[in-house]
Amino acid sequence: MDSLVEKLTSRASQQESQIAELKQQIQELQNGGVEDWEQVPPELEKLQTENQKLKYRISHLKRSIVEEESQGGDAAGNNVCGKLTEIFRTALRVAYPALTNAPVAVQPSQVEKFGDYQCNSAMIIAQQLKAQGSPVSPRVVAQQIQANIPSNDVIEKVDIAGPGFINIHLKKSFITPLVTGILTQGVLPPPLSKKRKVVIDMSSPNIAKEMHIGHLRSTIIGESISRLMEFVGHDVLKVNHLGDWGTQFGMLITHLADQFPNYLNESPPIQDLQKFYKESKVRFDGDEEFKKRAYKMVVRLQGGEPSIIKAWELICDISKTEFNKIYARLDVKNLIPRGESFYQERMNVVVQKLEAGGHLEFDDGRKIMFTPDSAVPLTIVKSDGGYTYDTSDMATLYQRVHEDKGERLIYVVDAGQATHFDAIFSGCRKLGWYDPNNVRIEHVSFGVVLGEDKKKFKTRSGDVVKLVSLLDEGLRRSLETLKEKGRDKVLTAEELKAAQESVAYGCIKYADLSHRRTNDYIFSFDKMLEDKGNTAVYLLYAYTRIRSISRKAEVLAETLKEAAKTTSIPVEHPKEWKLAKCLARFPEVISRTLDDLFIHGICDYLYEVANTFTEFYEVCYCIVKNKQTGEIESVDTGRLLLCEATAAIMAKCFDILGLHPVEKM
Ligand code: ARG
Repeated sequence: MDSLVEKLTSRASQQESQIAELKQQIQELQNGGVEDWEQVPPELEKLQTENQKLKYRISHLKRSIVEEESQGGDAAGNNVCGKLTEIFRTALRVAYPALTNAPVAVQPSQVEKFGDYQCNSAMIIAQQLKAQGSPVSPRVVAQQIQANIPSNDVIEKVDIAGPGFINIHLKKSFITPLVTGILTQGVLPPPLSKKRKVVIDMSSPNIAKEMHIGHLRSTIIGESISRLMEFVGHDVLKVNHLGDWGTQFGMLITHLADQFPNYLNESPPIQDLQKFYKESKVRFDGDEEFKKRAYKMVVRLQGGEPSIIKAWELICDISKTEFNKIYARLDVKNLIPRGESFYQERMNVVVQKLEAGGHLEFDDGRKIMFTPDSAVPLTIVKSDGGYTYDTSDMATLYQRVHEDKGERLIYVVDAGQATHFDAIFSGCRKLGWYDPNNVRIEHVSFGVVLGEDKKKFKTRSGDVVKLVSLLDEGLRRSLETLKEKGRDKVLTAEELKAAQESVAYGCIKYADLSHRRTNDYIFSFDKMLEDKGNTAVYLLYAYTRIRSISRKAEVLAETLKEAAKTTSIPVEHPKEWKLAKCLARFPEVISRTLDDLFIHGICDYLYEVANTFTEFYEVCYCIVKNKQTGEIESVDTGRLLLCEATAAIMAKCFDILGLHPVEKM
């Protein structure tokens, strides 16, 4: 769809210059005193109407791109921002019908006195009007918008502030049922316009090599994205694109043949395998004879010689077992191992297709393909006849679109591979292998992990950090932290173990997810185990505290669920109102993340929920106890409902992030 928008936009701008030209001609005719220029206006008029229609179509198309992910209008359902956006879109259209591409900018207000949400379109529209030669002050524009807000059950009132901000105050009667719904129906995602097949390429380490921290990021981010997609109702396929094919396996197997004679029947243990791998690389680079043997081995492997395939399978199995240990600890399920080898036959087909279509050029013995959006060509066939990472990703994309029928392909891979993916996507578009109007393909890139010295994350001795030892250290440090707090004295052994794992894996995941993924981030156990600030520890504690409130009040979850049907959510106190609004924002946060795949947005929201809850709980008593006896005198059921709804929203966020909160910590 983006390309259609581009096309239409360029046509619209062509028309605009034609219009300008015609206007100029008219002007000249008039200046020259020519009276009979009447024949021009019909043409001009026609162009102008066409141009308006075109612009309307563009804005409509652009809108449907956005709406596909985050619906507006009645379809917005529980998405507050979506509803407001639709209301203001109508107001804008009525107020300024000619401005078909006026952006509808609605967002939650940062400052309470500026209302609950804000619409900031007036300033932009004023600029557009000025550019068109009819300047109006933004305040007047805001008034114009205000006057055209359609009747609705969402907005209590709006006021105009500063240069033209429209502050929106929500109806309490609109928010409270949303919060009640959290308790009676569970935490629901925003409504989905279309269920899609989503293919997520994640983790994707390399066989016989150590899985490194970049793969850990891909695993953690990919897992969270897949949980998000599943939550909203998409059909998700998680693919582990293992590096399990290519020259390096010829190298490794040849070296094993020399060093590990039983290689056809067993694989060396993982540590030795990694050592053999490194040694084979050294030999390959320095020994011509070895290199030749390695190439021969690749041919035997890729030709499918049974004994060699078996040796290769043994190696893959050892590595996969190792990787699986990490996935189990991180609670990553249903990750389908589908390595580069899976595409061997498909790569042959790709090459045939490209050759037949005349898309390949010769370059120094290689066969390459230039793509429209990338300066670097793709290498499709090497000079020795072998395939490359490019070839395999071309085949992979084709397979995911045409065999898996993927409608959204997500590649969670480090930012260092951005050029590679740009070229792959561009090449496949050029070949018409996918239609960007129907299939959305994106590289979800992420930055590198740094040590506390701000250099690339390494051990003291300068080696790559082994993920298993990293997770072990997480466990050790989290137990230490729990003991410092004396938790070992209060919790049973089982509870303590659950808390230890929850904190350890939770803090590692959360530290990764809470940073904007495109930035580099510093890995620091000290920081991530802090119990203040936007950390897993703080949030997990906050959650257990909220959960314990109803325990203290001796009210059962079931009772509260029943009570939710008859008790209204209290919103009279400003802090109650603030909390209710915050909880009601969950669907819009999900909606936005679904589009931009910036998971830290969910973390920021979770942190805000926890803080807003604290503000509420400090001043709004939920349980009143007798000061002398400590006995419960009264329980505020309505407020307990707010506590429950908060816990439910937090639990859902934790779930999407892959964190496991515990009831007691
Ligand atoms: N195995 C690659 C690496 O370790 C990552 C693969 C990412 N996925 C892909 N389709 N290229 O760098």
